[in-house]
Amino acid sequence: MREQSLVGGGADRIDRQHERGKLTARERLDLLLDPGSFVELDAFVVHRAEEFGLDEQRILGDGVVTGHGTVDGRLVFVYSQDFTVFGGSLSEAHAEKICKVMDLAMRTGAPIIGLNDSGGARIQEGVVSLGGYAEIFLRNTLASGVVPQLSVIMGPCAGGAVYSPAITDVTIMVDGTSYMFVTGPDVVRAVTHEEVDRERLGGAATHTQVSGVAHLAAPDEAAALDLARRVLAFLPQNNLGTPPRRPTADPAERRDARLDAIVPDEPTRAYDMKTVIASIVDDGEFLELQPDWAANIITGFAHLGGWSVGIVAQQPMVLAGALDIDASDKAARFVRFCDAFNVPLVTLVDVPGFLPGVAQEHGGIIRHGAKLLYAYCEATVPKLTVITRKAYGGAYDVMSSKHIRGDVNLAWPTAEIAVMGVEGAVNIIFRDRIAHADDAAAERARLVREYQERFAHPYVAAARGYVDDVIEPSETRPRLIRSLEMLAGKRDRNPARKHGNIPL
Ligand code: HXC
Repeated sequence: MREQSLVGGGADRIDRQHERGKLTARERLDLLLDPGSFVELDAFVVHRAEEFGLDEQRILGDGVVTGHGTVDGRLVFVYSQDFTVFGGSLSEAHAEKICKVMDLAMRTGAPIIGLNDSGGARIQEGVVSLGGYAEIFLRNTLASGVVPQLSVIMGPCAGGAVYSPAITDVTIMVDGTSYMFVTGPDVVRAVTHEEVDRERLGGAATHTQVSGVAHLAAPDEAAALDLARRVLAFLPQNNLGTPPRRPTADPAERRDARLDAIVPDEPTRAYDMKTVIASIVDDGEFLELQPDWAANIITGFAHLGGWSVGIVAQQPMVLAGALDIDASDKAARFVRFCDAFNVPLVTLVDVPGFLPGVAQEHGGIIRHGAKLLYAYCEATVPKLTVITRKAYGGAYDVMSSKHIRGDVNLAWPTAEIAVMGVEGAVNIIFRDRIAHADDAAAERARLVREYQERFAHPYVAAARGYVDDVIEPSETRPRLIRSLEMLAGKRDRNPARKHGNIPL
């Protein structure tokens, strides 16, 4: 019997799976988990449907391999859909198997990783299958913020099925062989008369560059599974734990003198914030999430002195680092992800403000920007902020400022903390004086210089304690690590309530 359970839908279908460049459900688990650690559950489960000749096609396991194993020696629960069995479609029994491992994960406080490769609801089972999906969605929701949940999309994931990955913390896709959409190309053609193929509608490139639905794309399945392992290394087992500390040979006192010259003298000239991040973190290793979507803000994980941290940073090279709708959504979700799992936040600020424009206002930048503000305000993990250059207007408040419980707020000497940029400010407050000057250009230049000297630096904020210190850029790594150590025992909490009402 057990041997029978290992072959899923049979050798021909396995061959077809391989021909498409896809692995089987079990081969994937072998790559994901530590060798020999997988313990399978429910290998003998079969579906219970009788209709449409299904009573003659009962395949052990019913299209999903479930159980537990370890990743870097730490317990995880897994399910891996088997496309060779009814296209990995979800029956009542298939859903029950997934729910069982999700319940065990919650009971034991361990992450859940779902490997998705499925034709969706088992059509022959009808509403029973829809009920099965709802049972999974409910568990995804109840597990959210309790245990980390990762989804790896390794084939089709269509219809309502997409809402399970959508609720999980991180979604990883495989280039060319995975796709996610609520309605496929045929329905799109019938309803909107748009011609689109699966790849463009919902492939890995679309969801990591256009929609922001997925966090990472990998060139093949092995690389996608490796990414899932790497993400877990930054996270605790559950919300009651702290992330594992990773030993590092990178000295905490390391100072990178290149940082002292990285911010250009000209305020409108860009520099690459990723160079700053790579220079500060342990061994220059940064696992960026959503690198190709809303690239004006950078989110991802790194280690600092061995501590796992979540980094949020403006990217001056894209839209001058302005906060727009997508950047706000992206960073807000990441901040809440880190806060839920006790990952300290390091925020690098160079923000000229929220992006102006009719499209942004009509798209609800107020509603979306508020998400990021809310997320930072409610976060109780250690919050470290470094202002590298601009911190203008409302965006100064939003980006983990002292006023919203920033624990350690540092500024580089190049920081400008102000209501707006120098030029704009002078044009507004000295409009009359410039208009009536004999030499308007000279008067303007003089006022700009004066304003710059008065406000375009971090010392007004430092005088009020809004920034705790002004440091040389090369001091950033040692200061952040010492601050993390100081905050290791941080205790903070929000008022008791059922839940807040984050502007969604
Ligand atoms: C039962 C299914 C199935 C399904 C595929 N199969 N999808 N069986 N229910 N939903 C079976 C096929 O009959 C076939 O069986 C095998 O899986 C492989 O399917 P193929 O079509 O040969 O593979 P391929 O050409 O790669 O196409 C894959 C596919 C296509 C794009 C997923 O099968 C497809 O469109 N399936 C239907 C998708 C769908 O409409 N699902 C319902 C969506 S609604 P044999 O025996 O030949 O190997 C939904 C709602 C979720 O999911 C609700 C949540 C609230």
